[in-house]
Amino acid sequence: MLIWAGLLVAILPVRAQTDTMLAPLITDVPHRQTFTLNGSWHIIVDPYQTGYVDYRYRRTTRGYFLNQHAQRPDELVEYNFATSPSLQVPGDWNSQDARLLYYEGTVWYERDFRYHPQPGKRVFLYFGAVNYHAVVALNGKIIGEHVGGFTPFNMEVTQLLHDGDNFIVVMVDDTRHKEAVPTNNFDWWNYGGITRDVCLIETPETFIRDYFIHLSDLRSRKIAGWVQLDGQAAAASWVELAIPELHVHQRLRTDAQGRAYFAFQAPASLQLWSPEQPKLYRLVWIANQDTLEDEVGFRTIEVKGDDILLNGKSVFLRGVSIHEEAAFGGGRAHSAEQDHILLQWAKELGCNYVRLAHYPHNEAMIREAEKMGLLVWAEIPVYWTIDWNNPATLANAKQQLSEEITRDKNRANIIIWSVGNETPRIPERLQFMKALVDHARSLDSTRLISAALQISRVAHDTSWLDDPLGAYLDVLGCNIYPGWYGPSADSGARFASIYQKPLIMSEFGAGALQGFHGDSTQRWTEEFQYRVLEEDIRLLKTIPFLRGTTPWILKDFRSPKRLLPYYQDGWNRKGLVSDQGVKKEAFYLIRQFYQDIANLPVGRQVAK
Ligand code: GCU
Repeated sequence: MLIWAGLLVAILPVRAQTDTMLAPLITDVPHRQTFTLNGSWHIIVDPYQTGYVDYRYRRTTRGYFLNQHAQRPDELVEYNFATSPSLQVPGDWNSQDARLLYYEGTVWYERDFRYHPQPGKRVFLYFGAVNYHAVVALNGKIIGEHVGGFTPFNMEVTQLLHDGDNFIVVMVDDTRHKEAVPTNNFDWWNYGGITRDVCLIETPETFIRDYFIHLSDLRSRKIAGWVQLDGQAAAASWVELAIPELHVHQRLRTDAQGRAYFAFQAPASLQLWSPEQPKLYRLVWIANQDTLEDEVGFRTIEVKGDDILLNGKSVFLRGVSIHEEAAFGGGRAHSAEQDHILLQWAKELGCNYVRLAHYPHNEAMIREAEKMGLLVWAEIPVYWTIDWNNPATLANAKQQLSEEITRDKNRANIIIWSVGNETPRIPERLQFMKALVDHARSLDSTRLISAALQISRVAHDTSWLDDPLGAYLDVLGCNIYPGWYGPSADSGARFASIYQKPLIMSEFGAGALQGFHGDSTQRWTEEFQYRVLEEDIRLLKTIPFLRGTTPWILKDFRSPKRLLPYYQDGWNRKGLVSDQGVKKEAFYLIRQFYQDIANLPVGRQVAK
């Protein structure tokens, strides 16, 4: 401890991990009693982390977390949230202030709020996501830290809230790091900030924290799962489950860990969830003083040889890849309204499926897609070449996978957990990815596991999919760019796989500047993009084990890697729709392709 100029300052090593007091993740937040903290927050842009380290670059717990104000005319306090600028939460900072478009580093967020704790209630501070590293303080006390830009986290604050005036300070650092997930190299904009909703969740002393429910057997219509209570009366408690429309009522008793398992046969009237009929049922949990509702669908998903079986029937996934970027002008999408525009374009394309690349999207995106009848490939940002030999990197990837699966495991439309994208074929990567596959299966044995792989070998005019990671996946994803990053798909190369597994062509496409027209051999014209996709479709139709396609990508998106003046200007132009929401010619080509195959029996979408 350093006594300096009468100031008692606790000096800690800069990268010391705050004692992360994260509480187990609370799920189904949209249906809970919450107090929103969305709105205008003061911010301080702090590239040198002046609010976090001292002049010797050692961490101090006094910094900006205390939200100090000079109390005397001679007092030195060199920051002031109250007179600093503001930004909207949720929302990235890059798209809210032109001066911050390229800013990468630390930004402090602060907001005051009045709150009156209710006797007998517990309160949790919940963040939908903060990109990338968040340190959270409430009323001047650091209460938790989270690393990972696209998954939720929460901390119990019951004992820390004042009855009346409170303030929250969050230090957000979106600096890229080699050991991070994603690493310091990725083809999308590094939108920093408190990018999703923030709220206080109010619960009874003992509450329903989490549950899992799914149709575990199609023939017998067996529904199974578990419910988890949290609180002093969690153990040996009665919990009731009701699905009124199905006349289901279950009375369960929790075990010593506060968990109760269940399995029962649904009535013959059960309507399965499908893209054609995205049936959702109102579900009600009652435990002690807590009641929790949700809307859930029931379906089965499995693979059998080359086929993906949805509710026992082979399905072809007519999809499109989507980044979580607002439809017009960019910025992190975070609201159901923004998500709906993107998903409506996917519906117009004729999709029954979307690949939500390359990271977990906001919860409203999944729930909107579920209501609209869109199956989902969800993905964690294990992207390109990350720090495979770093145990902390693997631990963080597993943490993000756990948070994603915990949040979304009751969404019927999610059928695939993807553990990565275009990772290199080296031994340390295979070990890392297998650990992620095992972790995903340990959390959720009901869904399919995949990853977006790459062609690794071309021999005798055949492109071989023989990535060893494929042996551990249920479904193979593969990204190809013939005609854009290599010879045309019309070059006659066949596509083959050493696995007897369904294939989803998870990326293919070409760039075009919307409105730029010319000969189809002229790169960046819409005609060039159209021709490449026509060639791609011809290749796709020769692959008998193809069971899904997600062209890259629905909409042009910002990327600091796309630097060609006029044609790119910081945008990846492979969208079927421009960054201003204008559909390119290629949009209609894919729509026609999907119309042509929609009614063919699966397996006939592709020529034998
Ligand atoms: C890769 C990668 C995408 C990227 C795309 C491209 O396949 O998965 O994230 O944007 O190619 O080069 O445009």
